[in-house]
Amino acid sequence: MAENHKLWGGRFEAGLEKWVEEFGASISFDQKMAEFDLKGSIAHVTMLGQTGIISPEEASQIKTGLEELLQDFYAGQLEFDIANEDIHMNLESLLTQKIGPVAGKLHTARSRNDQVATDMHLYLKAKLVEVLDKLHHLRQTLVDLADKHVDTIMPGYTHLQHAQPISFGHHLMAYYSMFTRDSERFTFNQKHTNLSPLGAAALAGTTFPIDRQLTSDLMGFDAPYSNSLDAVSDRDFILEFLANASILMVHMSRICEEIINWCSNEYQFVTLSDTFSTGSSIMPQKKNPDMAELIRGKTGRVYGNLTGLLTVMKSLPLAYNKDLQEDKEGMFDTAETITVAIDILAGMLSSMTVNDRHMAESTEKDFSNATELADYLAVRGLPFRQAHEIVGKLVLECTKNGHYLQDVPLERYQEISDLIEGDIYTALQSRTAVERRNSLGGTGFDQVHWQIEEAKKTLMSDK
Ligand code: ARG
Repeated sequence: MAENHKLWGGRFEAGLEKWVEEFGASISFDQKMAEFDLKGSIAHVTMLGQTGIISPEEASQIKTGLEELLQDFYAGQLEFDIANEDIHMNLESLLTQKIGPVAGKLHTARSRNDQVATDMHLYLKAKLVEVLDKLHHLRQTLVDLADKHVDTIMPGYTHLQHAQPISFGHHLMAYYSMFTRDSERFTFNQKHTNLSPLGAAALAGTTFPIDRQLTSDLMGFDAPYSNSLDAVSDRDFILEFLANASILMVHMSRICEEIINWCSNEYQFVTLSDTFSTGSSIMPQKKNPDMAELIRGKTGRVYGNLTGLLTVMKSLPLAYNKDLQEDKEGMFDTAETITVAIDILAGMLSSMTVNDRHMAESTEKDFSNATELADYLAVRGLPFRQAHEIVGKLVLECTKNGHYLQDVPLERYQEISDLIEGDIYTALQSRTAVERRNSLGGTGFDQVHWQIEEAKKTLMSDK
């Protein structure tokens, strides 16, 4: 019978069969946490030394070994073995090869359960900083573009039908607001990620006189978790991240969908730069918005990762269960997906050409000024419902005659209502329609300028 050489092999007579071992192993993916595992171990051993749980000499020997492993890792020289199951046991085994049996003292007063939770917190803590940084850049990109296009008129849509003319800057600032709330959500997520599970040990804490505050400080966490069972059992900081990422992807998929529409032949509102477009292998004329489509598509995998982990966590009894090993791939994948997607979106936005003339012209061959006429009558005393009815009838008449409201002669207007005078034609212009929507948060140019100024201040203070 094969002897069991695992780090936990003492109570076993037989070893695992290869295929069973492969099923249980996580090293193929949890090696992404190597750096954090080493840093967590460095904090742990520093604490073991300072509290006298192990001797200062032993602590410094182990620390030196771990620091060397960290250098080996940065140099791409660490080799992992599936027989060592996961990143924690792989690194302990590499440490043993380096410094001998004293390496075995590292795991005093610690379990893989608090170790893995610590690694996950450290990984996400670093990723959240990166995500927030990238979101800041995306928000800045939107504000810069909006600033250039306050005066660019476009059709505002409801039901994908021309509704009322708006400022393109206003449209962009809507997304700025969404991405700002996304940033706030990720910032809140930091609060729950910046806690140290280390020292919870397997589930119940330890009999050794450890100093959890010290390891928490050494790793740059805000505080240690106050309940050891909670520290090793929950993954809500990851669920929160996946939920936040899903909402972010909702927003990114919406602007990407709009970009895809805008660069179609039907709209021609924007032209994507060559660097963010691809061609077709058969149709020589094609220039496809692949990157926008891909962000839209990747939304699916991020939702999938959220649903996956919610399902893993559901009804899981306390404390650690191996099910929790399934928390990693979705988190890594989501973090990697969103960080690139945010950059791609920002790059696409800042490099695209806005066909402002075409955008504005498309509000002149439609009835998106119908509300202006109704409001014109209402301001002059006609009940809005009646005004709505009159304008509706006039729109119908125009569609039959093949022209628009601005083409209706003044005599006809005055037959319809004696409230209408020559200034109606100015009121019907898209620019006037936008300019006059100056209610708080409306598309009026002053309001858009105000939003942009506020956003600039927020971006400065968010830095
Ligand atoms: N690879 C494991 C995971 O990712 C580490 C923790 C293992 N703990 C245990 N008691 N088996 O969850």
